[in-house]
Parts: sequence; structure tokens; C-alpha cells
Amino acid sequence: MSTSKPSSTSLFSPLDIRGTRFRNRIVISPMCTYSAHDGMASDWHLVHLGKFALGGAGAVFTEAAAVEPRGRITHGDLGIWSAEHAAVLKPVTSFLRRNGALPAIQIAHAGRKASMQRPWHGNGPIDDTDRARGEENWDIVAASAEPVKDGWLMPAEISLPEIADIQASFATAAGHAVDAGFEVLEIHSAHGYLAHSFLSPLSNHRNDAYGGDLAGRMRFTLETAEKVRAVWPDDKPLFVRISAVDADGSEEGWQLDDSVALAGELKARGVDVVDCSSGGISGLATAAMGPRDQGFRGPYGSRIRDEAGISTMVVGLVLDADVAEDLVASGAADLVAVGREVLYNPHWPHHMAHELGADPDYAEWPEQYGWWLVRREPLLQTVREV
Ligand SMILES: Cc1cc2nc3c(=O)[nH]c(=O)nc-3n(C[C@H](O)[C@H](O)[C@H](O)COP(=O)(O)O)c2cc1C
Repeated sequence: MSTSKPSSTSLFSPLDIRGTRFRNRIVISPMCTYSAHDGMASDWHLVHLGKFALGGAGAVFTEAAAVEPRGRITHGDLGIWSAEHAAVLKPVTSFLRRNGALPAIQIAHAGRKASMQRPWHGNGPIDDTDRARGEENWDIVAASAEPVKDGWLMPAEISLPEIADIQASFATAAGHAVDAGFEVLEIHSAHGYLAHSFLSPLSNHRNDAYGGDLAGRMRFTLETAEKVRAVWPDDKPLFVRISAVDADGSEEGWQLDDSVALAGELKARGVDVVDCSSGGISGLATAAMGPRDQGFRGPYGSRIRDEAGISTMVVGLVLDADVAEDLVASGAADLVAVGREVLYNPHWPHHMAHELGADPDYAEWPEQYGWWLVRREPLLQTVREV
């Protein structure tokens, strides 16, 4: 049995934000599984999310949880619009915390991307096959009355009283998230959903205080962040996910300069981390516009972190330990979010620690596994030498 000394790495150093400690810099990215009923979590969510805590992540985000029923992408989306929704999430937060991961929730309103099919039912507008299952479409709202694509549901332009109502729903949802036991909260302002539809000049053609210049287009996200921060406890981190650009490598739409400005304003309102994604303003969620390299959003995180002086999380195609380590060590990101890799391998964080020499003796694994794995090493070597 080895008793090697762990290497010191940036990726596996703890991070403190306000009164909250992340055991390492790896965060499970919010990922919809479209498996809730009326927004209510079930044992699916406990097992699905729980295994990422056992896998070694520093924090585990739920999928986007809708702040009102209209704000769900599909009939299967998670919700956090009532005390009942909070109550059924308590076993999830309790399991995550007991197993070393911070329980984190993303709260969201899908705007003009609401009322869609689940990906495996077609990933398009709700149609007769969905209706035959009893899943009707519902009326949707957005910054402006423009569908996400031709042939998709036409949203109503959201009125001023409705803006106030939806912002209040975000704040109420944050209160439910506290009751459910979450310790990190993220507002979804990316990927073409409601808040992003206000930010981008491609989807916001309003003539009132919530449209026009950059300040007008930022107003919805900034006011929402302010209202959520007023409810979310002072010792708990608040994140905002943004699409740092509307399209990687394009001069159209929302630009990185705009994100730097937004990040500065978010910081002034008590937001702690800007979560840097990109894309999604039209068409499907984050469909790639072209070839992408591993860690391709590092430069977005780096500029926002340097120029707005706020912590960043970077997400997107982080597959290998050295790429994740470099994003943190180089100062591009304080945290790295991982999506599809952990669907493939829920123990990805532990495997990365092993590769970087940060956990040579499986000490960070659940002891129920680590005790065996450390004893498996000499056996593996014998088998491989034969
Ligand atoms: C199945 C699936 C569901 C997703 N759902 C969400 C979501 O609820 N909220 C969100 O902000 N991003 C969502 N995303 C985007 C991911 O959080 C992540 O940003 C994206 O997958 C890129 O990271 P990756 O290359 O590590 O997968 C989803 C992605 C996948 C694959």
C-alpha cells in the first residue's frame, strides 16, 4: 500500500467564498434531465446528483429549476416555485453535503425557449405526439415578440408588471432554495433563456427601460440579481451564468466587452462568480457554431476576471486534468464546471486528482471505495506485469 505525498495543485486546492468552502475547484454544471413531474424532484434526482458528490466534485448543481411553471423548458423540468418543491429537494442537499459537495441550484426562466419537447422527443416545439401523451404547450413570454426560430411558438412581449412578477418569482425561488438547504445559487442568464433574451440586441427590440442601449438591456438581469441577493444569505455565494458572447468568433450580438461591463455591475450588486458559457440566443441551447478546443472559454473567464475583478467559473469541453488545472493555475477561472464528461464518468473529479498526483492514496474517495482501491493498486500492477 502506498503512502505517497499528494502533489499540490490549483485544481484541488480549496476555495472560500463568503463563509462557504469548496473542497476543490470542480463543479458539476447544471444539466437538465427532464425527469421531474410538475417540477417535483424524485429519487431520480437524488441518485443522479448524489453520485457526483461521491465522485469528488466540490459543488454539484441541480439542473435549471424553473421559478414558475411557465418558465420550464419542457414538461419534465425541475421547479422551485413552491415550498413543496423545496421539501422534496431536502434529501438531495443533505446527501450532497454529507458527502463533501456543496449543494448548488440554478434558478431559471426559459422565456421564448419554454414549452418545448424533451430532447429525446424531438427537441422542437410541442406537437401532436406530445399532446397524445397529455403534454400540451403553454403561452410563453420573452423580451420581444420574436420566436427563437421560424415555426416555433411566438412569445408575447413581456409587460412591465410581468417583469416585476417574474423578478419576484426569482427572489421567492431563492427563499425556497434556502429552505431546501442549498448553499450556492446561480441565476441563469445565458443560452437564450429569458434573462439572456433581454441582454442580447439580437432578441431585445424593446423601446422601454428594459431595451435599447446596454444599460437598458442589462436592467432585467441586474435587477433580478439585486432582488435575489436581498433574499439569499450573506454567507452564501451567488453565481450568474452568462453567455459571454452570443456566438464564438462573431461580431454580431452580445460581445465580450458587454460581458465585462455586465460582470462589473453584477459584482457591485453582490454577485460573487460569473459563470462563463456562450451562445444559444437562437436555435437550440448551446449548439456549437464551429470547431472548439478544450477549455475554449478560458479567454472569456480570464478577461472578465481581470477587468471586472470578479471570480469566474469556466465551462465547456474540459476533458483532461491538465486543461482543468491550467484554467485555474493560469488565472482564467476560480472554478471549472464540467457537464458531459461527468455523465460519462461520474468519478471524473477523483480520476483527475489521481492523474495530477493530488490523491495518490484514494484518500479523497468515499472510504467505502478508497479502502479497496488503494489495495487494488499492487494487484493491478501484478496483473499488468503478467
Ligand atoms: C444534458 C445537458 C443538459 C444541460 N442543461 C443545462 C441547464 O439546465 N442549465 C445550463 O445552464 N446549462 C445546461 N447545459 C449546458 C451545460 O451546463 C454545459 O455548459 C455544457 O454541456 C458544456 O459543458 P461540457 O462540455 O462539459 O458538457 C446542459 C448540457 C447538457 C449536456
